[in-house]
Amino acid sequence: MDIKITKTTTPKAKPTGKLGFGKVFTDHMFMMNYTEGKGWHDARIEPYHPISLDPSAMVFHYGQEMFEGLKAYCGVDGKVRLFRPEMNAKRTNDTNKRLCIPQLPEEDFVEAVKAVVSVDKDWIPKEDGTSLYIRPFIIATDEFLGVAPSKTYLFIIILSPSGAYYESGLAPVGIWIEDDYVRAVKGGMGFAKTGGNYAASLIAQVKAHDDGYSQVLWLDGVERKYIEEVGAMNIFFKIGGKVVTPMLNGSILPGITRNSVIEVCKSWGYEVEERKISVDELIAAQKEGKLEECFGTGTAAVISPVGKLRYKDDVMIINNNEIGPLSQKLYDTITGLQWGKIEDTFGFVMNID
Ligand code: PLP
Ligand code: COI
Repeated sequence: MDIKITKTTTPKAKPTGKLGFGKVFTDHMFMMNYTEGKGWHDARIEPYHPISLDPSAMVFHYGQEMFEGLKAYCGVDGKVRLFRPEMNAKRTNDTNKRLCIPQLPEEDFVEAVKAVVSVDKDWIPKEDGTSLYIRPFIIATDEFLGVAPSKTYLFIIILSPSGAYYESGLAPVGIWIEDDYVRAVKGGMGFAKTGGNYAASLIAQVKAHDDGYSQVLWLDGVERKYIEEVGAMNIFFKIGGKVVTPMLNGSILPGITRNSVIEVCKSWGYEVEERKISVDELIAAQKEGKLEECFGTGTAAVISPVGKLRYKDDVMIINNNEIGPLSQKLYDTITGLQWGKIEDTFGFVMNID
């Protein structure tokens, strides 16, 4: 892929002080167009700028769009690393297939990420717990109000120096198990990373926030009985010594952190079960003292301990609302690999320089 690079002549000041999540953007962005009959073309890196689209652009009306999320880390050795970007490239195409967006060559996805991160590598924050969040996305740009797949698209990558996703950092979060609204059903697009899934989740998230919980844990859309995933992360439990997580069933996102945590836990000798977990099973395990830990996994959330789970009138306090030993060890290991503090025997990290 030939990438034309135009650098800014007016670099912005870098942020100082505590970084939040997703509020500050770097000096450059990657862009590439798709046109039916021509394929993906005009790969370029330009100064960060607003984009201009016709009000009839299809993305505004029927939500034909996808996004990804990954991070670049500045290691303790000064090297820049990505975490399994080839999995984001593959998931992009799984999402694209579901949304009738054209396939994007996976090597081009990775090359584009590497190129734009290299141009803005001075923006990768170095403080403990920080990274450069990378947000690739594709939008449908045809000027047309009919319901059909667009024939033109824009692929864009923007970068955001970020700190912890949750205000509380590594302190355990409280999670609301939603018993009214549902997010996705099998055959729908729950497994895809597309805006519509997140739009569908907002109403329950607002309700959960109003009640003092930070995120929503979704139940399956049919029986409303089985645990699915959280708003921005997959969910794991440690029950009676075993690591348990919902199986991939088409309605949850196949998280890259989820996949990595399973591999790491197995390498430590844990029995890991990917299966259906009912909310009743959790309540019973809690009553029997077997629900030892609960944590979420995600690129933005990393490993996020859950200290409180609410379902209707049941409020389960897990591990005294403290981070458990497995959650802490996983956080240290995953971030240790990302920041180059521990040797990567899993083959997860990709150096950029
Ligand atoms: N589930 C949802 C709904 C998400 O938005 C995310 C975040 O990307 C995840 C799970 C975790 O996926 P990953 O570990 O690939 O970031
Ligand atoms: C990520 O972890 O990369 C995500 O996409 C979560 C996001 C919805 C904030």
